[in-house]
Amino acid sequence: MATEEKEQLMGDAVDDRPNACRIYGRLIGGDTVRAVDEGALSRLLTINPGTPAVARENRQFMLRAARTLAREYGVRQFLDLGCGFPTGDTPNLHEVVTAEQPEARVVYVDVEAEAVAVWRHRLGDTKNVTAVRGAVQDPSAVLGNARVLATLDFAHPVALVLTGVFPFVPDEDDPWALLGRFRDATCPGSHLVLSHALTSEDWPVGAEEVLRLYREEIQPMHPRLERDVLRFFEGYELLEPGVVATPAWRPDEPVAPELAAFKRAVAGVGRRI
Ligand SMILES: C[S@@+](CC[C@H](N)C(=O)[O-])C[C@H]1O[C@@H](n2cnc3c(N)ncnc32)[C@H](O)[C@@H]1O
Repeated sequence: MATEEKEQLMGDAVDDRPNACRIYGRLIGGDTVRAVDEGALSRLLTINPGTPAVARENRQFMLRAARTLAREYGVRQFLDLGCGFPTGDTPNLHEVVTAEQPEARVVYVDVEAEAVAVWRHRLGDTKNVTAVRGAVQDPSAVLGNARVLATLDFAHPVALVLTGVFPFVPDEDDPWALLGRFRDATCPGSHLVLSHALTSEDWPVGAEEVLRLYREEIQPMHPRLERDVLRFFEGYELLEPGVVATPAWRPDEPVAPELAAFKRAVAGVGRRI
């Protein structure tokens, strides 16, 4: 995208500190960062050069899970909460699922106005797909949003997609209860696609430094214990292979055993009971 056009889209809402959403957008290959993000991004890559790989594994899991749900389970509605920026060089969720289910309906939600603006520009008048601004801390506002209600029919199964979002929600906000509110808005047979960074002892090099960088310069991040990630699936029955290292969830190609055993982030898909 041309710089001037990008500036217009990302426009007024830009703050004066590095932004986690823009940095993640760059980690997965987009041109989303601004000058204010560059220093933190460069420190992040120095502390842990493996960060882009983790981010890409996360996005790839989300796309594999969405494709699997559309192709093998006939899922036709998706609510992607904390969607981040679209990618330019690889397909996005709506492109993956409409390839399987042409009538699929998708709503992208993010707390960052910039990401939503770029989605709307990107989507244009794409049928059955929209983007709205919203926070997972406010399920009523998201679920009551006119665009959400015009796009999704909650009387039929809706897959909730929350990949890499809850690490940005502190325990004080009770992300498990928030997820319960979204879950209860969906009917039995709906799905949950979720991934989450694990606590530092499972992280690779520089875990504490990465957390400090996020806390001090970007936005606090809250990786969790695996047992606390499993709690997000309450009310869901896990699809095979359960909650596993992110690249090991139904991989397209076999993954090396060391990668599958090294849980820096985990991912799973559940079916609402
Ligand atoms: C690590 S990125 C993951 C993006 C995307 N889900 C993916 O898997 O590629 C986290 C995203 O969550 C968004 N986010 C953070 N806190 C949020 C909140 N409270 N409500 C909604 N979105 C949030 C960020 O803006 C960012 O786009």
